[in-house]
Amino acid sequence: MTGSRPAKDFFRPLAVGAPEPVREVPARPSRAIHFFDPSNAKMAAKVPDMVGTVDVLLGNLEDAVKADNKVAAREGLVEIAQATDFGPTQLWTRINALDSPWVLDDLTTLVPAIGDKLDVVMVPKVQGAEDIHYIDRLLAQLEAKAGLDRPILVHAILETARGVANVEEICGASPRMQGLSLGPADLAADRRMKTTRVGGGHPGYLVREDPPRVDGVANLEASRSTYQQDLWHYTIARMVDACAMHGIYPYYGPFGDISDVVACEDQFRNAFLLGCVGTWSLHPKQIAIANRVFSPSTEDVAHARRVVAAMGDGTGAVMLDGKMEDDASLKQCLVMVELAEQLAAIDPELKAAYDAIEVA
Ligand code: GLV
Ligand code: MG
Repeated sequence: MTGSRPAKDFFRPLAVGAPEPVREVPARPSRAIHFFDPSNAKMAAKVPDMVGTVDVLLGNLEDAVKADNKVAAREGLVEIAQATDFGPTQLWTRINALDSPWVLDDLTTLVPAIGDKLDVVMVPKVQGAEDIHYIDRLLAQLEAKAGLDRPILVHAILETARGVANVEEICGASPRMQGLSLGPADLAADRRMKTTRVGGGHPGYLVREDPPRVDGVANLEASRSTYQQDLWHYTIARMVDACAMHGIYPYYGPFGDISDVVACEDQFRNAFLLGCVGTWSLHPKQIAIANRVFSPSTEDVAHARRVVAAMGDGTGAVMLDGKMEDDASLKQCLVMVELAEQLAAIDPELKAAYDAIEVA
């Protein structure tokens, strides 16, 4: 790949004294990444009480924070992070875009002040590997200076046409790469899509059934069913493949219609089924939706365990309830069982539900 480091150097720290890069991105549950505005005192005050109720708390410094509040948001995040014990909950931040006047101060302030508490830095509007290389080197320099003993990971938002075109090289640009999120609002604008929403579907994006025929003649006046299609299917599918290929994690992004919990759940579930591990939450009620959707159901876990048990050494084929199971369906079931184990380790309610599954 043009511009990439040779294999022998890929895992070398990019600054003298910076922590060793990770060889494998830890599979930490991150079903909901809950966004808060650290410059909003009311929102910030709720953060300590949310620890333990959500997998990831993210202090947002970028879009949705007014230009006049950028410094207050950055300083607010430092204050909250220093005062809070996050326990099992991860702390992430979304920094300002690389072409903004704020991002350098974001990083040079946050890393020395709270670098030991920050798990992941989310970078918006990533266009190509060069953006990740810039962040990678800067983080290494700041980590070395701050004497940090573990690297801060990097998450890119896929929200430009060029970013989508370069998605594979972005995922493979650094061992810091933790994952990707879909940024449907910026992506729609950058692509010049004719939508005005933040995530979700659109009633105009549909297919229509063929007209009924009478004596071989199409009746174009007849009413016909239409089926809304998913505007984001193509992008999410590309993200999932790029992430899987590089051993990192794909996420849905924002769903802006907070009141439409049903459509929100549908979008999240499509992403889960396609391979995403989590999503953003813009309101506390979306946390519950994300936790439900991105945790395998007890029915799925029960079935997966049955297949694992029936497949013995994992080779060959068996019939279960009239359906053929083989090495490949076993591998799918193992994904489900493994995810259930990871989630049970941090979510006592889920653990109780999974433990209660009867072995058939
Ligand atoms: C998120 O940042 C988006 O643009 O959708
Ligand atoms: Mg955006």
